[in-house]
Amino acid sequence: MRDDQTGPARDREGRAAREERGRPPRRIVVVSGGGIAAYKIPDLVRKLVRAGHSVRCALTPAAASFVSPLALQTVSGEPVRQSLLDPGEEGQIGHIDLADWAELVIVAPATANLLARMAHGLADDLVTTVLLATRAPVLVAPAMNLNMWDHPATRQNLDILRSRGVHMVGPDSGELACGWEGAGRMSEPAAIAEVAESVLCPDTLAGERVLITAGGTREALDPVRALTNRSSGKMGYALAAEAARRGAEVVLVSAPTNLPIPVGVRRVDVESALEMRSAVLDEIDACGIAICCAAVADFRPAEAASRKIKKEDLEPDAGLRLELVRNPDILAEIAAPGGERARRVVVGFAAESHDVIGASERKLARKGCDLLVANDISRRDAGFETDTNAVILLEPGAGPEELPLLPKGEVAARILDRVDKIRGERSSRS
Ligand SMILES: Cc1cc2nc3c(=O)[nH]c(=O)nc-3n(C[C@H](O)[C@H](O)[C@H](O)COP(=O)(O)O)c2cc1C
Repeated sequence: MRDDQTGPARDREGRAAREERGRPPRRIVVVSGGGIAAYKIPDLVRKLVRAGHSVRCALTPAAASFVSPLALQTVSGEPVRQSLLDPGEEGQIGHIDLADWAELVIVAPATANLLARMAHGLADDLVTTVLLATRAPVLVAPAMNLNMWDHPATRQNLDILRSRGVHMVGPDSGELACGWEGAGRMSEPAAIAEVAESVLCPDTLAGERVLITAGGTREALDPVRALTNRSSGKMGYALAAEAARRGAEVVLVSAPTNLPIPVGVRRVDVESALEMRSAVLDEIDACGIAICCAAVADFRPAEAASRKIKKEDLEPDAGLRLELVRNPDILAEIAAPGGERARRVVVGFAAESHDVIGASERKLARKGCDLLVANDISRRDAGFETDTNAVILLEPGAGPEELPLLPKGEVAARILDRVDKIRGERSSRS
């Protein structure tokens, strides 16, 4: 999706991108309880609409004191439901219509009171009646004071809801609106939207452990300086988020980045290529899929000085000559043909500035991976540091597939669709 587009154009493009990937827009009902975090709900609705979904909102009577129905109506483009016993709203048994319409119900903020009413099957207002009548999956985002959160009554209510298959996101810890510090803050709208996607997403990678490397390694010259590259880690993080959404257990071996850890992902922080190799080798045995997206430095300084290199210590006007030695080739090491290789799907990345397809085909043959994702880094809208990417997918024995310029999240989905296909072909052969 492009950032320069106006609202309706972006929303349409969000829907078109979903359709194209065979992941249709979904119908989501967002219901809110009376907590201070309700002020964040217009942002959540906006994020869901931008992702291509249709959203309808309903409020408890208390919630309407914390968030404006007009704001929700504006961002969702739909009337906001508030009353069970309103003859106008209920003209066609509206609460059952809403419950049936939903493919997912998000309860945010889920107050202590609302969780209790859900756990005990009450249907005493529009929101709880919809929650009792719907057959759609339900995702709750609790928000409350930390003592309310810790109270045995709330704990038991959560246990009941979990045992019924209700999905949970959060709460986060931090400063609470009531002045206390601790667990009870509603998850951020972006995290709720992310978990909603995984609830809606088919679990094609359930039970699978996926290793992903991301970011540009940092090779120390001395305690202050390092050799590195322009990789932002965005592509690897998008892959980690998408794999987690598809139900995988994801371990993300990451060189330094400024990116937040994707929801549901375990991150192992490393700096240098040698550290990345050792973290990958620690994790790889348990992983059925490995995606090497990191920009690993090919060379590192032969020796990292233990103290800062100072120009005063050199001859006046003298330059500094660096000796570099080769780093290990992590991708080649884990993709190496052999018994192990037969059961793991290995995906590599290539960043090329010219002869992209030729150079990538040679790299695919040399490394022996199952799929190579080639980036043309000469483009300004693709590759390092951008939010979009234009890649070519290469598989041994198949022609290259050139994807259009897409947001990195979409590219991640296409790559994992291809991984699903490779796994499917493999299991049908065995
Ligand atoms: C200023 C204010 C903030 C509140 N914030 C919360 C909250 O974050 N979480 C919560 O569980 N209850 C909170 N409450 C209490 C709920 O509003 C109250 O329990 C209400 O009955 C919830 O109704 P509902 O769950 O039907 O929306 C707050 C009350 C006030 C006055």
